[in-house]
Amino acid sequence: MRIVLVGPPGAGKGTQAAFLAKNLSIPHISTGDLFRANISQGTELGKQAKAYMDAGNLVPDEVTIGMAKDRMAKPDAENGFLLDGFPRNVSQAEALDVALKADDVKLDAVLDLEVPEDEVVKRIAGRRICRKDSSHVFHVTYSQPKQEGVCDVCGGELYQREDDSEDTVRKRLEVYHTQTEPIIDYYRTQGLVVTISALGKVDEVTERAMDALKGDK
Ligand code: AP5
Ligand code: MG
Repeated sequence: MRIVLVGPPGAGKGTQAAFLAKNLSIPHISTGDLFRANISQGTELGKQAKAYMDAGNLVPDEVTIGMAKDRMAKPDAENGFLLDGFPRNVSQAEALDVALKADDVKLDAVLDLEVPEDEVVKRIAGRRICRKDSSHVFHVTYSQPKQEGVCDVCGGELYQREDDSEDTVRKRLEVYHTQTEPIIDYYRTQGLVVTISALGKVDEVTERAMDALKGDK
């Protein structure tokens, strides 16, 4: 399956993607995680992305689209993938369509996670992620690690993302509404959008998402 996950910052895209990718045996591809890995490795791409991310803005398309396409071209993504955080504006969605068409494949669904803004703010405020791998995500109350400050998956140190400060979150939400939400309409015209509520426990949301993807909402 080829799936795009969409939803505001803090909706639980990364959290759900980990379970959905496992259930569906497809790789979880998060452009945010790819940028953070580049930043921690000190690459040129990471240096370019950091200032945009810290300000809550989108990294320019010239950088992002190439990075996403390179990752999708890896052998593990040949039969499907779960995109998290890409595409994030209409021009990225158009570039993805062109790339998929060139490979003679299509998206199966765009899963839209709906969460009220006050809940998103609570989720982001308590989020802690792993320094070794930013796809390992926890929450100080909703999803506590067994040992405070330590990643259950790999033992890495947990920390608060630099862009999770109040001001940057406000900016990221604004960018989501103005630049990312329009892709929902873009995909709606292609009949691909499946909207679910992302409220409730993590496993309840996963179940809802799996049902929606199977078409028996
Ligand atoms: P990115 O890393 O994609 O951030 P985001 O879209 O803002 O989304 P988040 O990762 O903040 O939230 P999430 O939905 O994954 O929630 P999570 O599962 O962690 O992007 C960061 C930046 O990179 C962007 O601002 C931009 O600069 C750049 N970038 C990335 N992609 C780009 C692109 N395509 N183009 C240009 N720039 C790009 O959950 C949040 C918290 O809630 C966690 O603590 C979790 O434990 C908790 N939680 C999750 N589910 C539940 C639940 N059901 N109940 C209670 N708590 C829950
Ligand atoms: Mg995420």
